[in-house]
Amino acid sequence: MFYLIYVSSAIKLMHDDELLLLLEKARENNSRLGITGMLLYKEGNFMQMLEGEKKTVLELYDAIKKDERHKDIVTIVSGDIKERNFENWTMGFYDMNKAGDFPRYDDYIKENLTLKSFQDDSQFAYSFITQFNEMNP
Ligand SMILES: Cc1cc2nc3c(=O)[nH]c(=O)nc-3n(C[C@H](O)[C@H](O)[C@H](O)COP(=O)(O)O)c2cc1C
Repeated sequence: MFYLIYVSSAIKLMHDDELLLLLEKARENNSRLGITGMLLYKEGNFMQMLEGEKKTVLELYDAIKKDERHKDIVTIVSGDIKERNFENWTMGFYDMNKAGDFPRYDDYIKENLTLKSFQDDSQFAYSFITQFNEMNP
């Protein structure tokens, strides 16, 4: 099993209905592809974790990178995992605008300052996003 975490910036702020549309399509595709994961969104910024067969994850990531709804796509970390973190989610979603405070994540959203620190400390990014697997699907 392989996983990949990236961050990106939406071209413009996304409305709820646009996010819903994106998610519906993603879930439909992912269930066919055997992909699971989590998408976080806050103030025009995405963070996503994809899990599945390595080839499938990388092909999907290539397609996602070409999507014109976002830009500045930066891979944070990828690698092998024994088992999925999001086995019940074809794509979980968390609207971080409605969540509590996550200081280091919020710093990244505000200034992109911690992007480098996310990359330098990939263990943090991994544990940050996987904590959302405790939310109900
Ligand atoms: C932030 C973001 C995350 C996305 N995540 C997924 C995803 O997990 N799975 C997926 O199939 N498409 C995802 N997409 C959409 C793809 O970029 C692309 O539009 C879609 O795979 C095309 O599907 P189609 O060829 O069936 O129309 C995402 C797009 C964005 C902007």
